[in-house]
Amino acid sequence: MSKLIDGLQVRLLTENICADPLSVSEYEKAGGFSALKKAAAGAPEEIIEEVKKAKLLGRGGAAYPAGSKWEHLLHIPETPKYIVCNADEGEPGTFKDRLIMERLPLKLLEGIMIAGAVFKAKAGYIYVRGEYRKIQKRLIAAIENVRAAGYLGKDFDIHVISGAGAYVCGENSALLNSTEGKVGRPRIKPPHLAEVGLFLQPTLVNNVESFANIPVIVNMGGDAYLQEGHPDSGGSKLVCLSGHCANSGVFEVPLGKVTLRQMIYDAQLGGGMNGGKLKFFHLGGQSGPIGSADQLDTVYSYTDLKKAGLSVGSGAVVVMDESVSILEYLKSVTEFFIHESCGKCVPCREGNFQLLKILQKLSVPGKAQKSDLDTLRRLVRTMTSASFCGLGQTAAAALNSAWKLFKAEFEANVSQGEK
Ligand SMILES: Cc1cc2nc3c(=O)[nH]c(=O)nc-3n(C[C@H](O)[C@H](O)[C@H](O)COP(=O)(O)O)c2cc1C
Ligand code: SF4
Repeated sequence: MSKLIDGLQVRLLTENICADPLSVSEYEKAGGFSALKKAAAGAPEEIIEEVKKAKLLGRGGAAYPAGSKWEHLLHIPETPKYIVCNADEGEPGTFKDRLIMERLPLKLLEGIMIAGAVFKAKAGYIYVRGEYRKIQKRLIAAIENVRAAGYLGKDFDIHVISGAGAYVCGENSALLNSTEGKVGRPRIKPPHLAEVGLFLQPTLVNNVESFANIPVIVNMGGDAYLQEGHPDSGGSKLVCLSGHCANSGVFEVPLGKVTLRQMIYDAQLGGGMNGGKLKFFHLGGQSGPIGSADQLDTVYSYTDLKKAGLSVGSGAVVVMDESVSILEYLKSVTEFFIHESCGKCVPCREGNFQLLKILQKLSVPGKAQKSDLDTLRRLVRTMTSASFCGLGQTAAAALNSAWKLFKAEFEANVSQGEK
């Protein structure tokens, strides 16, 4: 039976939120740890087969198929193996991992413990955003409760590591460096983290929402989970609505069954605009693309959004009305990346500064020349193709999508004198 609750929202992950989210007994009463017991009793291949059937795409932003990642790690003979949960949640406009850690911490732990059992891993680490101090304490309390109940601490244990406010530490190799106590800068890949990861050992890195989906998949079966979503990507996605729509918050939507228009305008979700008229929406965080009202009928799925030049990314949906200047918005996006660039490579370290300079020129009547627009395009191409890690590769994604949609605003102030 489908878990749709009103045609637009679904309760797969957010089912059975306990009155006391830290209580192991309440969680058990709601079916908690049954998936872990199944995983511990079954063969690792069986669990991985369910994750593959579910077509769970990584919920951290890159949408890598979780089943393939798990299968790859299973075939690596070296031990010990480590499990790492990416709870850095640094993408602006994204606050869904926070909901899982606050309200469903035991489901997250169960997902990590299932991975621990599948890979016979030595330990698990949850790398939590530095600003989430209270959540870190909550997770530590949850881990202690699970240990006290006897599920953790014998063959496998979980530790909480605090980030220190660097967005780049959400990139999985920078995250591992930071966990090891090193400077949080990305590593060169290959070698793949599945082969040479934490402490140079085989490692699984998945996002909070990805791990929290694992008990759901094990309990309901991969085929049933797939049915709840899109044929290419099963299940649900937690989306974070914010900005100029009436309702902000986290909503669990079935993948492939809701359009962007429903997401923003339906009373069950965004509830429409907060007075103004929609100008654009920014999907997947600062590193994601911008879309306009013409794209509102796009279905919210990895496949459909990609076809429309958009993306799910982290699940952020920032809605902006016509009071917002696209140039001002992009300046703030670029300032974010200047602040967060780790400085290791030139295209990102210098490219973001140059982007900002041109955006500033474009904002002042007569200051920019046509050649500045060409430079802007070249910069975007160079940064996207030559940056060392995903931060620089996606820093200009918003700009790259926006200038096609708002060409007139980009050109409004360009000097008519030729250069
Ligand atoms: C600059 C940058 C920041 C990232 N930040 C996060 C983050 O905060 N949380 C996250 O889960 N993934 C983040 N990622 C993606 C991770 O590198 C990685 O793809 C993810 O943890 C894998 O888990 P998943 O397959 O379950 O999505 C980031 C990537 C980049 C390039
Ligand atoms: S793209 Fe280069 S400078 Fe930017 S964060 Fe990655 S490694 Fe650092």
